[in-house]
Order: sequence, then structure tokens, then C-alpha cells
Amino acid sequence: MQPTTIEILNQEVDPDGDTPSYYRMLVNKKDFKYITIDPGIYEVDDLCFPASLLEKLPPLPSGNWNCGRISQSVENPTPFFAEIARKALPSISPLWHPKSYDYLSLKIGKRLRSNVYLASSLQFEKPIIAKFARFDWEIRYYVSETGAYSWIDGHNIGPEFLGYITEDGRVIGFLIEYIEGRHPTVSDLPACRAIVRRLHELNIVHRDLNKHNFLISKRGVVLIDFETAVQSKNCDGMKKELEGLERQLLDESVNGGIHRDEKII
Ligand SMILES: Nc1ncnc2c1ncn2[C@@H]1O[C@H](COP(=O)(O)OP(=O)(O)O)[C@@H](O)[C@H]1O
Ligand SMILES: [Mg+2]
Repeated sequence: MQPTTIEILNQEVDPDGDTPSYYRMLVNKKDFKYITIDPGIYEVDDLCFPASLLEKLPPLPSGNWNCGRISQSVENPTPFFAEIARKALPSISPLWHPKSYDYLSLKIGKRLRSNVYLASSLQFEKPIIAKFARFDWEIRYYVSETGAYSWIDGHNIGPEFLGYITEDGRVIGFLIEYIEGRHPTVSDLPACRAIVRRLHELNIVHRDLNKHNFLISKRGVVLIDFETAVQSKNCDGMKKELEGLERQLLDESVNGGIHRDEKII
């Protein structure tokens, strides 16, 4: 029998160690397993460091399960699997785009944010961006965002939507074209205002217009991150969004930018 290979794809660890830790793992390069580890079992340093955690995990039970919980008790001080089950995890819907790509067909590269990765695939000539729910409770963000991409499709406002990402047949996220560019400074205000106006003409309010959600590229300004966008004819909301733009472009904080804390993945 081949040895089992386990890869930790994503993790969400409480740095204080008070709440459970969550992992998305890939076993033998094909089976996705979502594993919860009860608090207090392992040191936070081990929980945050995949190589050391993998050495300490109890052996994975065999079978077709996809969700499991590792626990410990006074009677059983050695960590053990207290639960394993095959659960029907949520899927993004409704869908509007015809194409889907299996997560396993993608080469996931550099992490830009917790849920945003540079990626590549033989099916695409250029680098792409993969944005997906690492855990089931994140699916709802991408239900909104994938829907918003249908509203702007063909309007040259955002990156091209390339299709969905699937895992075990369910839709967990999407692929968009990678836009080579930089985030704006206040000197880009007129161009940023213009693209926001074009969004508003489609009766869409973005609702998260920080400067990290604009990319200044060769083809002009591109707007990204439509998680909170809504269809609305509320002129006040649109006016406020436009008026707040200058302050957003002047803002030097990293809100909305690349995560600096590499420990919490
Ligand atoms: N299509 C893209 N092309 C290039 N960079 C991107 C693209 N999409 C996202 N990014 C980069 O990743 C960051 C996070 O993406 P974003 O969609 O804003 O996620 P979040 O919801 O976490 O803010 C952006 O600020 C940007 O730097
Ligand atoms: Mg963003």
C-alpha cells in the first residue's frame, strides 16, 4: 500500500488557542477533508505550522468521510478522531457562467489574501486569479460575488470572469483574469471616479471601495472585489460612494490590502 500523503491547503487558527482550529486538507492528492481540532490539544505554534502539525495528528481513519473532528479527553489523552462523517457541503448557486474548472486541475500559486490566489492551469495561457471559499461558511460571500460578475459581464469594469472552481463537484469559487497593475494613488482619482460612475450607471453600488479594490493597468482602471456589491437605484448611496473615494485613495492603512500576519492563514 502507498503511504498516505496529506497536504494542508488552508487553515484557520485562533492565535489565542481558545476556539477550534479548522483545516482544509488534501489526502493522496484527491480527497478533500475538512478537519476541526478542538482547542487545547496542540500548541498554537504547531497548529499554525503544517509540517509540525502533520507529525502530531492521529492517523486518518479510512473511508469516504469528508468532515472530521479531533478531540481529546481525560480518559483518552492521546488526540483521536471523535467524529467522522460524509457531509453535503454547500455549493455556490445560482450559476450563470457556462464554464467550471476542477480545483485539482489548477496550480495554486502565491496567496494574495486569505481567499485569493494567483493560479495557473494548462487550460489558460496567462496567469489567473482564483478566489474561493476555503470553508463552508465562506460560500455565501462568493454567492454574492459570482452573481455580481454577471451584472458587470461585458461592461469592461472588472476582470473577465473565466468560470467556477469546483471541488468534489460543488462550486466553491471562481476564476478571473489576472490584471497586471498597481493600486491607485490620489492622482488616479479622476479615472477611479469614472469607473465607479460606470458601475453606478448599471445600478450597482460596490460598497467596499478601498484602494486595494482598484487596479491601474495598461488597459486602464479595473475594479475588483464585488463581495458586497448590490443592485440598487439609491442615488444617495452612489453619491456617498463617489464622495468617499478621495479619502479612500489617500488612506495609508492596509485595510483591504495584503494580509501582513502570515500566521493566520
Ligand atoms: N484579478 C486580479 N488581478 C490582479 N490582482 C488581483 C486580482 N484580484 C485580486 N487581486 C489582488 O488580491 C487582493 C485581494 O483581492 P480581493 O478580491 O480584493 O479580495 P478581498 O475580498 O480579500 O479583499 C487585491 O487587493 C489585489 O491586490
Ligand atoms: Mg479587496
